[in-house]
Amino acid sequence: MCHWKRLTLAKPVCGGYNNAFSLRGIDAMQNYTPRPDLLAQRVIVVTGAGDGIGATAARTFARYGATVVLLGRTIRKLESIYDAIEESGSPQPAIYPMNLEGASPKDYQDLAETIEREFGRLDGVLHNAAILGTLTPLELYDLELWTKVMQVNLNAPYLLTRACLPLLKKADDASVLFTSSAVGHKGRAYWGAYGISKAAAENMMQILADELEQNTSIRVNSIDPGAVRTRMRARAYPGEDPLTNPLPEEIMGPYLYLMGPDSKGETGRSYRAQQK
Ligand SMILES: NC(=O)c1ccc[n+]([C@@H]2O[C@H](COP(=O)([O-])OP(=O)(O)OC[C@H]3O[C@@H](n4cnc5c(N)ncnc54)[C@H](OP(=O)(O)O)[C@@H]3O)[C@@H](O)[C@H]2O)c1
Repeated sequence: MCHWKRLTLAKPVCGGYNNAFSLRGIDAMQNYTPRPDLLAQRVIVVTGAGDGIGATAARTFARYGATVVLLGRTIRKLESIYDAIEESGSPQPAIYPMNLEGASPKDYQDLAETIEREFGRLDGVLHNAAILGTLTPLELYDLELWTKVMQVNLNAPYLLTRACLPLLKKADDASVLFTSSAVGHKGRAYWGAYGISKAAAENMMQILADELEQNTSIRVNSIDPGAVRTRMRARAYPGEDPLTNPLPEEIMGPYLYLMGPDSKGETGRSYRAQQK
């Protein structure tokens, strides 16, 4: 099954802004000018790297020097991001096909071991992959879909972080970045499993940050991208003119800031990539 010419690390696994930046802070992050080698020598895992914000983050991290592990479930999409990174002359990335919906704890362990074997280090994880589920009253929520949403949006970042912690602890200043959402900060009708998974992931970020603050140099934060022109946004807001929302490329400043060394020491915080 693994017939790709590319560096593919594994067979497919099928299996309130309390601390937020002030508005000035958001501006500062958006206008952040990273130095060109900001992420040089760093190895960073991006989940959901085949599409939307994750695909752009992967390409952006690579452009700033990172070796990116492209984790996702649709190999065709991962390959196209791989090719784009390679053609741009950035460090050679790696593809790690993994369906977070069915992945077992052992699959995450295998991933961490593969990264250690291939690269000998891990400096960052962007927990970006997520599914929307359905917008419906909690009372009527489909239970099978509920479990899928929780598996991808909540259990996967937990299992991935847990498996990668030993490697992350060895890095000089590792960054673990969760992706949150406005509906994870304040419950909103019909957002169901998605909103609850995002709220729980936010809490997981805080617990991890608290636990890791004393004896490690790992920082753990979350970022709410705001409304961004992606497939997920179009599904959630079918009546909206997509052109009213920025492209993922336009919100990469905060992602670079939080993944790179300039955010060293900042942990346990919830950030917004946009003011709206
Ligand atoms: N866009 C927004 O306006 C917005 C707002 C707030 C928060 N967010 C958050 O931002 C993040 C990125 O969202 P997006 O808008 O870029 O979404 P998107 O365009 O739907 O992309 C999601 C990515 O996650 C991957 N993914 C989904 N299920 C997966 C699974 N089971 N295993 C592996 N990968 C899986 C998808 O893979 P496939 O391509 O193979 O499906 C895709 O690459 C999400 O955490 C989302 O909740 C987005």
